[in-house]
Amino acid sequence: MIKLLPDVDTGIDDALALIFLSEAHKQGQLEILGCTAVGGNVEVEQTVRNTIKIWEMTGVDIPVASGAERPLLYPLNTSPFVHGDDGLGNTFLPPPKISPSDVTATDMIMRLSHQFPGKLTLLTTAPLTNLAVALLQDPSLAGRICEAVCMGGGVFTGNVSAVAEANIANDPEAARIVFRSGIDITMIGLDVTHQVFWEENDLKALVGIGNERADFLLQIIRYISGAYEKLSGWRRCVLHDPLAAAVCLYPDLVKTEKCHVDVELSGELTRGMTVVDRRGRTPLGEENIKVALEVDAERFKIMLMDSLLGWAQGG
Ligand code: RIB
Ligand code: CA
Repeated sequence: MIKLLPDVDTGIDDALALIFLSEAHKQGQLEILGCTAVGGNVEVEQTVRNTIKIWEMTGVDIPVASGAERPLLYPLNTSPFVHGDDGLGNTFLPPPKISPSDVTATDMIMRLSHQFPGKLTLLTTAPLTNLAVALLQDPSLAGRICEAVCMGGGVFTGNVSAVAEANIANDPEAARIVFRSGIDITMIGLDVTHQVFWEENDLKALVGIGNERADFLLQIIRYISGAYEKLSGWRRCVLHDPLAAAVCLYPDLVKTEKCHVDVELSGELTRGMTVVDRRGRTPLGEENIKVALEVDAERFKIMLMDSLLGWAQGG
């Protein structure tokens, strides 16, 4: 069974991913060994609180370790406009009862990698600062990780700039360390995540439930949909992080191509861009990353909605 360590910046789409994962964990489809959080969509204190709160709401007992407050070199850019001041669509949930783990995110990654060498799958849905710090501390960590599924980057598009995606752009130095580490990485970038979204029409089954859990889901989904509408004129909830979570369980949801990928650190217009070499020869370096280029969007959307409905109906 997959032994999973998610690294998150919860965040609305992170929250949807966590609920999906908790349902899979309860059904014995994977084992979530712990969870690390980092500053990203909101400050790290809030991402930790949100992460613990979601695990609590889903009834799974997962230790959450607090990680980096800010990127390796530069200040953090949070996204309250997209995720709300509380990171969860201004739902302002009561604080969780459980406290964060007393180990740091780096320690949790290290400890689990030693406890389960070659068996640990990392899922990252956030800036890669925590993993980069761990790799800087001990580069041999890479050899103990089975694989990492990373939501971030893009081949043909960006979101925070024309060419850069938020998780990579928030800490490009960290992303470069991780991408160059030798870990077997699947990059779930915007090329595939922009193909998986819900519009209001897709939410009918949730609307029909009418309980507190369904209302919470609708509130956060509609909040982020409104933010996308203001930004792009298209009202929809893009399911970035849930897709990466689902790929951990069902890798055949996406088609990948192994490419040389590196992260631009210094371009005036391109900092944070994932530079993907698809020329079929590799003058830039070895093919180091499996880049997702196609996704079975319908299968994924049904799978995710079924999982969320399952959780909501149990409330
Ligand atoms: O670009 C999408 C990513 O940035 C997601 O992880 C989302 O949570 C945001 O932080
Ligand atoms: Ca995220």
